[in-house]
Amino acid sequence: MGRLMADKDRMEPAWIALCNVDQLGDRAICHTELLDHEVVVWRAEDGAVNVWENRCPHRGVRLSLGHHRGEALQCQYHGWQFNSGSGACRFVPAHPDAAAPPVAVKTWPVEVRYGFVWTCLAPAGEVPPFALIEELEQDAALKADARSQSPSIHLRTIAIDAPSETVQRALADYCFDHARFDLWQTTDCVAFDVAPHAVMIEQLDAAANRVVFLLQPARVGRTYLHGVALGPVALTERLTVQRHHQQRLNVLRDALEQQCVHREPLSNDAVANRPPLSAPQTSPATQPVFLQRSLSKPVSASGSLNDRHFSAAHDPADRAFDIHLSRSRRTVKVAAGVTVLQALRGHGIDVPSSCEQGVCGTCRTRVIEGTPLHRDDFLTPQERAASDCMMVCVSRAATETLTLDL
Ligand code: FES
Repeated sequence: MGRLMADKDRMEPAWIALCNVDQLGDRAICHTELLDHEVVVWRAEDGAVNVWENRCPHRGVRLSLGHHRGEALQCQYHGWQFNSGSGACRFVPAHPDAAAPPVAVKTWPVEVRYGFVWTCLAPAGEVPPFALIEELEQDAALKADARSQSPSIHLRTIAIDAPSETVQRALADYCFDHARFDLWQTTDCVAFDVAPHAVMIEQLDAAANRVVFLLQPARVGRTYLHGVALGPVALTERLTVQRHHQQRLNVLRDALEQQCVHREPLSNDAVANRPPLSAPQTSPATQPVFLQRSLSKPVSASGSLNDRHFSAAHDPADRAFDIHLSRSRRTVKVAAGVTVLQALRGHGIDVPSSCEQGVCGTCRTRVIEGTPLHRDDFLTPQERAASDCMMVCVSRAATETLTLDL
């Protein structure tokens, strides 16, 4: 048994559950987030599970948009393939006879335990040993009668728009707050930390199953919560138990999101000071000539193959501007050094995005008034001249304000 929950530094290096292994069947490619990193999780045909940065080292497009090639992932943009395990590039379709360039996707360590894929983002050499979660170990070892019982039940994962610390505290509090969590009025519960980012809820009425919640701090203000109801559970009861807990999780999510709706939006400074994505791993000196030629525009003077994209949104001459949102009638300030996409996120407004490098076109947004300062590689010259849409991940404003169709 763990200890009663208390405040502590949740961001110390730890193994964190990312997704259920059942999601990796059928050549599935899972996209998720962890501590502001975009992550792709996939299983190769030999069974090896990979947790990688969700970004092609060539042009920055999300690998989760690509194709599963058995023992490799292929980026959808230029078709580069990356090997399971090392993440090393193995093939570039534009140069089928040349040796693959010495580039690799950023990889993170993987553990598959208790039906989940886990990773740790600590630098190599500082990765702590995997902390066993006693309750889940016992559950896995439980001798359930396979014909009539389940050793445990995975509840569905829910996304909560609240910081993981808030979610973790709420899990500890909910038995005391009957007014807000009225579904539990008749249930006496107590919460325990059982590992970093894992909380167990013990229901003292003994009528229902204990539940272990695994917390995945996705990004600022967003947490994924994976639940496991501990068994044994009669197979005939499985659906009832799932429904019961899922109803609870939905209530928990609604209450937490309500709590967080009045939270202060992140300042532009806080957004700008978030940890950057991993630095590009290659330098022009180590790249074959054909690799540099494969770019449609010159490699930047500062050197790195990816510099142009990693820095597309930041120019020292950038100035602040306002964006008006026509549908919600809100105004958001975009500081110098902060992208429109980041500023919107800081105010809880989510625009679908993918590469975040101005390459894929996912974040294309209609401009109703004002003139955008285009910095993407997606729009045609005619579309740029029309000034009626922009890629909010990289483009800025040429006028004092922009009105967007959001
Ligand atoms: S997210 Fe790909 S262009 Fe903006």
